[in-house]
This record gives sequence, structure tokens and C-alpha cells, in this order.
Amino acid sequence: MAIVTGAGAGLGLGMTVRLLDEGAHVVAGDLDTSRLDRLRHPNLISLPGDVTDPTTADALVSAALDIGTGRIDALFNNAGIALFAPAEELENAQWDRVIAVNLSACWYVASAVGRVMIAQRGGAILNTASGAGLAAVTDGLAYVASKHGVVGLTRSLAVDWGRYGIRVNALAPGFTSTGMTESFREQAPDLYAARASRVPLGGRAGTIDEQVAMALFLNSDEASYTTGLIAVVDGGTHALSAGYSPRPPVAL
Ligand SMILES: NC(=O)c1ccc[n+]([C@@H]2O[C@H](COP(=O)([O-])OP(=O)(O)OC[C@H]3O[C@@H](n4cnc5c(N)ncnc54)[C@H](O)[C@@H]3O)[C@@H](O)[C@H]2O)c1
Repeated sequence: MAIVTGAGAGLGLGMTVRLLDEGAHVVAGDLDTSRLDRLRHPNLISLPGDVTDPTTADALVSAALDIGTGRIDALFNNAGIALFAPAEELENAQWDRVIAVNLSACWYVASAVGRVMIAQRGGAILNTASGAGLAAVTDGLAYVASKHGVVGLTRSLAVDWGRYGIRVNALAPGFTSTGMTESFREQAPDLYAARASRVPLGGRAGTIDEQVAMALFLNSDEASYTTGLIAVVDGGTHALSAGYSPRPPVAL
């Protein structure tokens, strides 16, 4: 039994589909569940709701316990929003919303699921952080602060809950093709191309499948000795020294 948040699109939808393909039961939450509902999968329960409301976390947990084996094996704590503006133009309401969705809600869901995992003495939690959780990106103040918070949350929970057999890791995606980045490509194609050209591995954005593979691995028994890891999946961008550009891809 797995719970996925932000499951209605992008990485969360990719995680949900892969879990279902592998035979898992999934409780999938999102503000908009229309794409989940169209899957019409017998092992899937979709729950509309805003993760910034703590009762949404309780509803996800109740649904998981009701339909499954009474256990929650894995949480994919993935819901998130991006907002980019120069720091001096960022409004308090924008800051509050980004912190609420990306960081506070991440804790609300981890907390509700954690109570079950503590009682059952085990489980795996994967928080979706970002490369922006490890270094700043231009005009990304609230997003960067929220994702640095997700990194801290991940490390703290890994340390505190290891004694219950609960593993807590984070996926830190680089630039990945989802709705979040497609709007960026449409609004600023030059900036998008410049951003992609900074990726050493092929000069391209990552795919949903490339992120989902790491997410599922970290929440699987294959990763039984891995906790507190911030898994950077970014085509090598983080390895590139600042001020340098990778050489362009070489064709066959
Ligand atoms: N795409 C990237 O390049 C990239 C890079 C780094 C990190 N991330 C992170 O990956 C995660 C998924 O992003 P994505 O690219 O798939 O974005 P996306 O916009 O395609 O999907 C995000 C989903 O979260 C849902 N959501 C947003 N706010 C919510 C709320 N308050 N309550 C419930 N659901 C809510 C949205 O409805 C949407 O379905 C996010 O945490 C994001 O910050 C993405």
C-alpha cells in the first residue's frame, strides 16, 4: 500500500502509474484528480484535496488503512508548486503559499503517515525536494527556501525515525519535463534552451520515467540500508563547477 501526493500530474502521476503497474494498491491525492480518475484502475483510490489542509493527510491515511492490509508501506510526499520572482518583488502571500504547499504540507503528510509507520515499526518515505534544495536558483527565493526545508525535514526524520525502522529519503530532481517546466518552455524558450544546455548528460531535461525510477528504488526493499539520502537526479548538473559549461552532446 502506497500513498502519493501531487499524484494528478507530472512526477506524482508517473509514480502512481508505475506503482499500479507493479501491482501495488495506491491512494493518490491531488487538487485535481481528473487524470487519475480516467485511469479507472481497480487498485487506485483518488482523493481530491489540498495538502495544506492537515485533514487531507488524515483522509489519505484513513483511505489507505481502509482498503489495504492495515499497513502503509510507502509514502511518496511529492506535491509541490514553483513560483519565480525577484526576491524584492515577492509578496508575503506568495511566500506563505509556497512554504505551505512545499514544506508545511510535506510535514503534515509525513506526520500522519509516520504515526502509522511508527506503530507498525517500519515503512519508507520519499520526499520530493529539488536541486533547488541544495543550491539557490535565480528568482527562486520561496521555492529555494521551501526545498532546503524539505532537505532538512528529510534528514531530521531519517535520524529520528530510524529507531522505528522507518527510512526517509529525498528525490532532488533537476530540470525535468513536466507541466511545471513546460510552462517555462512556452513563456521563455531562450531561457529554457540555455538551462537545458547546462546539463552535462545530453544537454536535455530529464524525463518523468528517469525520476520515477529513482523514487521507486528508494522506497523499495532494495534500498533497505539507505536513509537520509538526498538523491540528486539531474543529468550531472550539480557536478559541474560554477562558471563552466558542458561541451554540447556528440551525435553518433
Ligand atoms: N519538474 C521539475 O523540473 C522539478 C524539478 C525539481 C523538483 N520538482 C518537484 O517535483 C514535484 C512534482 O512536480 P512536477 O514537476 O510533477 O509538477 P506538476 O505541476 O506537473 O505536478 C504537481 C502536482 O501537484 C499538485 N498540487 C499542487 N499543489 C497542491 C496542493 N496544495 N494540494 C494537492 N496537490 C497539489 C498539482 O495539482 C499537480 O498535479 C514538486 O514537488 C516539484 O517541486 C520538479
